[in-house]
Amino acid sequence: MVEFTLPANSRVRPGKTFAAPAGTKRVRDFKIYRWDPDDGQNPRTDTFQIDLDACGPMVLDALIKIKNEVDPTLTFRRSCREGICGSCAMNIDGINTLACLHPIEDVKGAVKINPLPHMAVVKDLIPDLTLAYAQYRSIEPWLKADTAPPPDGERVQSREERAQLDGLWECILCFCCTTSCPSYWWNGDRYLGPAVLLQAYRWIADSRDEATGERLDALEDPFKLYRCHTIMNCTQTCPKGLNPAKAIGAIKQLIMERQM
Ligand code: SF4
Ligand code: SF4
Ligand code: FES
Repeated sequence: MVEFTLPANSRVRPGKTFAAPAGTKRVRDFKIYRWDPDDGQNPRTDTFQIDLDACGPMVLDALIKIKNEVDPTLTFRRSCREGICGSCAMNIDGINTLACLHPIEDVKGAVKINPLPHMAVVKDLIPDLTLAYAQYRSIEPWLKADTAPPPDGERVQSREERAQLDGLWECILCFCCTTSCPSYWWNGDRYLGPAVLLQAYRWIADSRDEATGERLDALEDPFKLYRCHTIMNCTQTCPKGLNPAKAIGAIKQLIMERQM
């Protein structure tokens, strides 16, 4: 049965406040979700007052400043700080996005930072992506071809064939879309979600791949694919400007066409 209230041990309590140094002129509050699996305590929201004149422009800059200068136990993923690796995905000011691409100045008032929603939390801002990666593996995200490549070179594509991959190859698997999708919230154990379905279409759309029928067979399932009800949260939130809902629609279209 669906539970509509959080269990008592998940309720977020007020946490500590770390004040800015006296005399700081441009102060901004960062309200950050904290949870440590080892201390037996409920999650809490800590407030860090940050001097914007001594901080880089992006939310990730503030998180790194807090970790380096205020509380080294603050835990989050990051790597490239260029919107390429997808690891700094989190919920900022109510939107799933990348901390390294999100300017602090775009947030009015306190900057509220939470982990990606509806995922188990490993610690603080780190979601458990084990299931999401298992689902990604399940679509076999690699080129499948029975025919041998040309003996003297690579499998080539025309410009038009290569263009079919635009809007797909740019996906960085940040899972901002998947964790914004109500269908995934309720059926994440069986519905593959927009990130994985966009990746599945990336291989279906690849002219060099020879497993299209097999890939469509694997997706033709009431839960894996058809839990998408075109709510479009995924497309609205994608920090790379991609359109997973359109990719999902294209898969459904191909399945429909082959039945005609
Ligand atoms: S369009 Fe489909 S995948 Fe995207 S948010 Fe809606 S239900 Fe989820
Ligand atoms: S489609 Fe966009 S939001 Fe979804 S995983 Fe890829 S880059 Fe992230
Ligand atoms: S740190 Fe790599 S996408 Fe943000």
